[in-house]
Amino acid sequence: MVTIVVGGQWGDEGKGKVISYLCMKDEPDIIARAGVGPNAGHTVVYRGKKYPLRLTPSGFLYEKAKLLIGAGVLVNPEVMLKEIRDLGIENRIGIDYRCGIIEEEHIARDKGSGHLAGKIGSTGTGCGPANMDRANRSLKLAQDIAELKPYLTDVPQEVNEAIDAGKKVLVESSQGFGLSLFYGTYPYVTSKDTTASMACVDVGIGPRRVRDVIVVFKSFPTRVGAGPFPTEMSQEEAERLGIVEYGTVTGRRRRIGRFDFDMARYAAMLNSASQIALTCVDYIDEESRGARSYDELSKAAQSFVEEVERRVGVPVTIISTGPELEDTIDLREEKLGI
Ligand code: GTP
Ligand code: IMP
Ligand code: MG
Repeated sequence: MVTIVVGGQWGDEGKGKVISYLCMKDEPDIIARAGVGPNAGHTVVYRGKKYPLRLTPSGFLYEKAKLLIGAGVLVNPEVMLKEIRDLGIENRIGIDYRCGIIEEEHIARDKGSGHLAGKIGSTGTGCGPANMDRANRSLKLAQDIAELKPYLTDVPQEVNEAIDAGKKVLVESSQGFGLSLFYGTYPYVTSKDTTASMACVDVGIGPRRVRDVIVVFKSFPTRVGAGPFPTEMSQEEAERLGIVEYGTVTGRRRRIGRFDFDMARYAAMLNSASQIALTCVDYIDEESRGARSYDELSKAAQSFVEEVERRVGVPVTIISTGPELEDTIDLREEKLGI
């Protein structure tokens, strides 16, 4: 049984939060990371402690899960090895031997004026140049790196065997729909597609394997770096609403906007979304902050949730009302019977 979680806007929708909640609740046997690479910064907050993650699957808090990194994900060995050590996940992480490797040279090519960081405001983490080298057939793979040897595995083999055995697999992607190389706001996009189909490719499963696709939307979407943002509001307006965010990886201030129903509907279509996780509902008003049941939400927040559901055409099953894992309203049983 496979569930995929993807971002529906420009990344930073709170996938880390939603995935960590889902993993603690659903206890999947495997949590497999898809997506571009260490350009991502997922934030997991559990009982007051904050874990900023760049490559490790956000569900790592559920200690019985095997953690896998799919072949489509770029690995920066230094970042990966540090997270493995810091989180103590040596015994349950597996990295596909075909993951592409980011080296210093890729980071240098990504940064500076005239390079991607200057041109489109990339994260400067080397992902774009590494994917260029991959297409150019000149990139090193994980199997070429001695320090990664203890963790190498065949991710598709592990994931497909688990599915055949009736186990639960959660696939987590990174970035968001608007950053897709094919469907996003090109050229202000990342170096790969970011939809659920790409997440399947990243971890090596076919499209018939997937039961659920959960698209994560933020009540007030954000964007870091350059590029179109049709519903963007001014910094002053965002501040008046009390919304100020900084990027996990780059520390850049995030641009803030109003919910874009047309974009969300389109993102849901391309992802074949079966559920929506709506985050930052607490940005709507003070009253909804930290709500853990639907009745605790303000009337304004409830009507926003209903509007999203109606206009996007997909049930909102997970509502997040704060960064803490437990600040979550889970309507899956009530709405879908699962
Ligand atoms: P990428 O993989 O980089 O796209 O990131 P992400 O989708 O995992 O999101 P990220 O953690 O970068 O950014 C989301 C921010 O919002 C983090 O600081 C979270 O702690 C925070 N957050 C998540 N859900 C909520 C919520 O419901 N309310 C509030 N106030 N903050 C939230
Ligand atoms: P790159 O992926 O580093 O090449 O950056 C390309 C664009 O995608 C830039 O606008 C980045 O800010 C954006 N981007 C890449 N990864 C993330 C992410 O995880 N969260 C938010 N924006 C991202
Ligand atoms: Mg992020």
